Amino acid sequence: MPLKVSSRGSIPPFIVMDVMQAAAEREAAAKAVYHMEVGQPGTPAPQGVLDAAKQAIDDNRLGYTVALGIPELRAAIADHYVSSYGVHIDPSRIAVTTGSSGGFVLSFLSAFDAGDRVAMAAPGYPCYRNILSAFGIEPVSILTEAEHRYQPTPELLEKAAREHGAIDGLIVASPSNPTGTMIDAAGMAELCTYCSDNGIRLISDEIYHGITYGDQAVSALEYDDNAVVINSFSKYFSMTGWRLGWMVVPEDLIRAVECLAQNLFISAPTLSQIAGVAAFDCRPELEANVAKYAANRSLLLEQLPKAGFNRLAPADGAFYVYADVTELTNDSLSFCRRILNETGVAITPGVDFDPDRGNRYVRFSFAESHEEIAGAATALIDWSS
Ligand SMILES: Cc1ncc(COP(=O)(O)O)c(C=O)c1O
Repeated sequence: MPLKVSSRGSIPPFIVMDVMQAAAEREAAAKAVYHMEVGQPGTPAPQGVLDAAKQAIDDNRLGYTVALGIPELRAAIADHYVSSYGVHIDPSRIAVTTGSSGGFVLSFLSAFDAGDRVAMAAPGYPCYRNILSAFGIEPVSILTEAEHRYQPTPELLEKAAREHGAIDGLIVASPSNPTGTMIDAAGMAELCTYCSDNGIRLISDEIYHGITYGDQAVSALEYDDNAVVINSFSKYFSMTGWRLGWMVVPEDLIRAVECLAQNLFISAPTLSQIAGVAAFDCRPELEANVAKYAANRSLLLEQLPKAGFNRLAPADGAFYVYADVTELTNDSLSFCRRILNETGVAITPGVDFDPDRGNRYVRFSFAESHEEIAGAATALIDWSS
């Protein structure tokens, strides 16, 4: 008799990880790869974090911590909101998580019931949609355009509600993955007001804060104390594999988040929590990383058009360029596979971020070293000519 397999688990892959696998296979066959597929800093964790981790291995038992995280880290995160945004948050509202990915699980489960509708921009980070689906929550794609910097607006939310029914939640990301585009202060204020007037739970993924090339990103917490904010040490703090993130949780969700965290994760990795406290004292090193991303961004904005990629989203922040490749292909998956095979440049097809229109887009990540990005640009230009 065949055994039951849950339909909840049959969610689409995170295609970035599939491209990473194809790139690894190419490397294993001793072929060169220029990594532009994953949004992962090419730099290690900052020195202060490495030192603190070494010390913690010598000094600490590294047992479990309490579910919401060690007090030193929660206090350091609360201080970060005062120094970066002028917002005072009680440390009791900070939950330390296993990357922002853990924060999605905790926020979706604490805020929404199966059958609820949660809206998000397309193109957008694919795991929002896929995690929601696994929980039986309906993801509602808001098809955004370049004219709105690929970000949702109250008008687009109204339209989504007319087409799909009442919306229970909205996820925003500014800067966004895959476009790098941002919501400005006025836009964030408007969205916060619209959400609170309409009973929509706002979840703001602020993982790319700190990596911006003009204006600083605004936090939803500057406009709405009830927003759920999700952040991470993975990007600005260059600590992807440490699996450390945090949430700022509104009062009405704190106990639910705590109980879920106790049952699902027990605690975020202890070594990472202890070392993570030092991350906030490593600003000069982290700002130097941002300067490297800025140089990579300038290089790509100049070089990509020479390889035929000339319709590029305005990358206000993060480390991505999202390119409209309508004139080159209508099958971005095969197109990316061909580019990897013929040039060694690993990039991600837009279908990961926008199931409806992504066949006409690709995403370049420029988080690796300048040499790698420059090599990739040259390889693409040679390939296209
Ligand atoms: C927008 C966005 N949110 C969340 C994540 C997940 O990050 P982590 O779980 O490493 O914090 C990513 C990773 O690329 C991302 O791009």
